[in-house]
Amino acid sequence: MKETTHIYPIFDRMESRSEKEQCLGQHGITVWFTGLSGSGKSTIAIALERELSARGILCRLLDGDNIRSGINANLGFSPDDRRENIRRIAEVCKLFTETGIVTLAAFVSPQRELRELARRIVGADDFVEVYVSTSLSECERRDVKGLYAKARRGEIADFTGISAPFEAPEHADLTLDTTQLPVAESVKRLLEAIEPKIILPTCKKNETAYE
Ligand code: ADX
Repeated sequence: MKETTHIYPIFDRMESRSEKEQCLGQHGITVWFTGLSGSGKSTIAIALERELSARGILCRLLDGDNIRSGINANLGFSPDDRRENIRRIAEVCKLFTETGIVTLAAFVSPQRELRELARRIVGADDFVEVYVSTSLSECERRDVKGLYAKARRGEIADFTGISAPFEAPEHADLTLDTTQLPVAESVKRLLEAIEPKIILPTCKKNETAYE
């Protein structure tokens, strides 16, 4: 019988993360936005995505709209389902991040344990936690989707902030309160925090591009 040194020899042929990153000319990270429903996570993440794209940085935004209607369409808001929601999202973030893509994840992720799970899966070095700290009273006042009113009437069970807990992060890398900061200022602070992590010190692509 022919001797094989690897069970999965195909992995020897797969491109490494650093090859992907050299190809893109950037380093992949996950920027994880946590905060109440209606706090402004997606709004800030969308604005950041536009700024990054304008700088030629490839990024991907994941939020409830594209995840809970697709890959996680079978999940609700029980503690177990929220955990599975975050676990799958973090695994997807890891795949994007290891492809060199700046991955923006905007999810309520209401408990520390859930955010720690995400951090563990993605890898602490590649994980930036951003707390969008807009208060419950302001989120409820905005009530963009009408969900707080429904939750108050008892029409939605386990609604974060009303009938399910939200644990504020204690050591977020960045905290942004949308009642104090315009979106553009939040984006500026985010860029300052993440740009040093995205830039590749040695990049063949950039060297040849500027020759
Ligand atoms: S998480 O808790 O599992 O991280 P996720 O970010 O995916 O939540 O989804 C939150 C969004 O789903 C909210 O912005 C809101 O629009 C909607 N939603 C529907 N039911 C609930 C609920 N019971 N609690 C929180 N958000 C809900």
